Amino acid sequence: MQESTGHSSAALSLAGVHKSYPHPSGAVTALRGVDLTIQDGESVAVMGASGSGKSTLLHIMGALDRPDTGTVRIGGRDLSTLSDRELTLLRRRRVGIVFQFFNLVPTLSALENVVLPMALDGADRKVMTRRGAELLELVGLSHRADHRPAALSGGEQQRVAIARAMLMDPAILLADEPTGNLDSSSASAVWSLLGLLAGRLGKALCVVTHESAVAAAAKRVEVIKDGQIVGRFNTAEINHDPSLVAARYQELAT
Ligand SMILES: Nc1ncnc2c1ncn2[C@@H]1O[C@H](COP(=O)(O)OP(=O)(O)O)[C@@H](O)[C@H]1O
Ligand SMILES: [Mg+2]
Repeated sequence: MQESTGHSSAALSLAGVHKSYPHPSGAVTALRGVDLTIQDGESVAVMGASGSGKSTLLHIMGALDRPDTGTVRIGGRDLSTLSDRELTLLRRRRVGIVFQFFNLVPTLSALENVVLPMALDGADRKVMTRRGAELLELVGLSHRADHRPAALSGGEQQRVAIARAMLMDPAILLADEPTGNLDSSSASAVWSLLGLLAGRLGKALCVVTHESAVAAAAKRVEVIKDGQIVGRFNTAEINHDPSLVAARYQELAT
């Protein structure tokens, strides 16, 4: 896919993004003018309370939804200039998304879940099995390839979902409260894995979360409140300490 040589070469950038949802009792505004840039290899946590617009933001970043106004660029390309077909291809090839509730298919094995997008594309079975095995190894689940989701722990299911998100070797990994449904030790394993993939493979990583322990592992925290970014800080300044991250967050969000 051709890259534009426009002014922004960031992995992902949003400028002036607004989004509201129609509702019988009046439209609900979820995002009111969000500006956000993530460079290649950079890990960013967007931290905010429930209802602050995190999932809406993530869906727009991942081209699952379009903003009402404002610009979204992935690898420099302005998404508003793309046809639906181009958008679908870009989403499939450039962006990997991990959701809070894993979104695995219950009747498929771990390996089949990982390669499902390739299967839907009619890929060769041998090629798929090889790629699936490689990705399960990457997330430390080679020994669970034949297990269905119900036979896996929550943390293991999320690692399968991460392997699936990596299938097309995307430049950008997005995660919507990926540890929100896990106990704290599985949560830290999932976050370390995401961080490792971002670091080792140079992915741009954006995780939206309300948990300070998750946010503390990112390089930068952006604080979202009522659909607006109200502040940001680098976690290195406070030694990636979750309780200091929580304190900075409180300061900025209140
Ligand atoms: N499909 C929808 N229809 C109407 N309102 C929605 C829809 N999705 C989200 N909202 C509203 O938009 C706001 C932001 O929601 P969301 O992005 O899901 O926040 P978060 O992920 O931070 O909890 C909330 O007020 C929510 O109720
Ligand atoms: Mg949400």
